[in-house]
Amino acid sequence: GFGSFNYWLRDGLNKGYAVAQININNLEFVQAIIEAAEEERAPIILGASEGALKYMGLDYAVAIAKTAAERASVPVMLHLDHGPNLDWVLKAIRNGFSSVMIDASRLPLEENIALTKKVVDLCHPLGIEVEAELGRITGTDDDLTVDERLATLCRPEDAERFVAETHVDALAAAIGSAHGHYKGKPELDFERLAAIREVTGIPLVLHGGSGIPDEDVKKAISLGIAKMNINTDNQEVFTAKVREVLAANPKMYDPRKYLGPGRDEIKAMVKKKLALTGSVNRV
Ligand code: G3H
Ligand code: ZN
Repeated sequence: GFGSFNYWLRDGLNKGYAVAQININNLEFVQAIIEAAEEERAPIILGASEGALKYMGLDYAVAIAKTAAERASVPVMLHLDHGPNLDWVLKAIRNGFSSVMIDASRLPLEENIALTKKVVDLCHPLGIEVEAELGRITGTDDDLTVDERLATLCRPEDAERFVAETHVDALAAAIGSAHGHYKGKPELDFERLAAIREVTGIPLVLHGGSGIPDEDVKKAISLGIAKMNINTDNQEVFTAKVREVLAANPKMYDPRKYLGPGRDEIKAMVKKKLALTGSVNRV
């Protein structure tokens, strides 16, 4: 079966490393991620977003992840990434996910608290742990002014209240990271992160992990980040390799011959991320 989300995030928080959530997009991603985690003796979270689940098929995705968890000798978790509403949370639970994220960050604070609390009350009796989002983690394509950006960041006083009222297990607090390709250098608000850690005490999650300088990731982990999410970096190296192989071999038609090299690139990238997050040899 799947590993325990809470156990491993707490282990990370206590020992000063972050568990990697690597998002899955297809079979090759799962295979690459599991091989990397196994070779590095690292606990690993497979993140599945609504978009990825629609693409793969929820039941296919779960079956592949379960097979991966059974065959692996390291703990594997299957986590719903950015669950948009109760409906998706229920779908994930019914199909055997080990933990979920409810992302109600688009809603006003009161409504985010209410929906997140509802999800926690539903999940905890079933032994399923919950991550929620506070502040808004934007896309890198959103062109925000300084004031607009500030308005998206998580306020420590809100985080304190949010955690106290919802009893959520992990918090994705917006501290300036973004999803996708950064145009410039991402500016993480470390002071804010430290303050949020201080008032919440629970494992914090860094979304938009692709493209953040290594030193900044390490600093964030030292300040309470116990889980880091990665997707874009893997998509990028996978696709670049497929492109390269196809360009060099215009007559190639066997998908295994270009997907395989793409898969190898994901594996190498995941190994890098496991080293960066300090998750190597934790199992
Ligand atoms: O929830 C997913 C992550 O936050 C992925 O972000 O694609 O920028 O690495 P990324
Ligand atoms: Zn995210």
